[in-house]
Amino acid sequence: MPELDDRIAVVTGAGSGIGRGIALVLAERGAGLVVSDIDLAAAETVAGEVRSLGRRAVAIEADVTDRSSTGALASAAVREFGRVDILVNNAGVGGAAGWWERTSPSPEDWEATYDVNVIGIVNTTLAFQGHLKERRSGRIVNIASAAGRRGTGGFAHYSASKAAAINVSQGFALQLAPFDINVNCICPGLLWTPLWEKIAERDRIKSGETELTGRQVFEERLAQSTPLGREQTPEDVGRLAAFLASARSKNITGQSINLNGGSYMN
Ligand SMILES: NC(=O)c1ccc[n+]([C@@H]2O[C@H](COP(=O)([O-])OP(=O)(O)OC[C@H]3O[C@@H](n4cnc5c(N)ncnc54)[C@H](O)[C@@H]3O)[C@@H](O)[C@H]2O)c1
Repeated sequence: MPELDDRIAVVTGAGSGIGRGIALVLAERGAGLVVSDIDLAAAETVAGEVRSLGRRAVAIEADVTDRSSTGALASAAVREFGRVDILVNNAGVGGAAGWWERTSPSPEDWEATYDVNVIGIVNTTLAFQGHLKERRSGRIVNIASAAGRRGTGGFAHYSASKAAAINVSQGFALQLAPFDINVNCICPGLLWTPLWEKIAERDRIKSGETELTGRQVFEERLAQSTPLGREQTPEDVGRLAAFLASARSKNITGQSINLNGGSYMN
């Protein structure tokens, strides 16, 4: 029997990149899915992919920065499936609109990263915690970043938000442990997703290396930073999220787990 059979999972930011990968792996392992994103059309496409794996899925539009939206997401998820077992807080941004065209972060970029990458986790967790506490079970997986492990020069706003996401995960792990709810965090390294395409565009502008393609900028970064020499994939993150959502990890909570090919070790 697949290890997540009959579990119901909610994934935020699941219309693209890593969130999509997590949704598909959880579905392969047996879970039914609430595919949530601020971009409903993208969420609907991924929900269709989940259904074609033979699992139930609904797409629900939600903006994680807006408490009324995350509250409505929790109500709709429970109404649709009767319960929720797994929450993956994946939605994340690199700044305010057009951030990749700026060589240094604006005050709006600082605000936007904090709003989505930190307050987004808080809003969604608070929206679901009553339901999970009542059932005295649940798994929460937050997606932080290798960038949250140490400060970065030109991307300090993003690193700081991800460091906060790691810390917030520990706080919720302590608060929710008495209810048998495990909260863990994944720190991915380098994944070629629409987010990294924008980072590459920004790095190209910043360095003046306009003869390189975005993908070449990414590969250069990979070669400089990653001992294993391989990029990580959304499926890698999905497999770790599935483990953290399964019975096999029942005594793991409050941890932030690196998935980075060795670029940072602790
Ligand atoms: N790509 C990488 O190398 C990498 C590395 C480490 C961590 N991460 C983190 O992984 C997560 C996913 O990143 P990705 O690379 O798949 O990026 P992506 O841009 O491909 O996907 C992010 C998704 O989040 C959604 N989103 C944005 N703002 C939202 C909001 N306010 N409410 C709900 N949804 C919202 C977007 O619509 C999009 O579908 C992010 O938290 C990111 O910081 C990415």
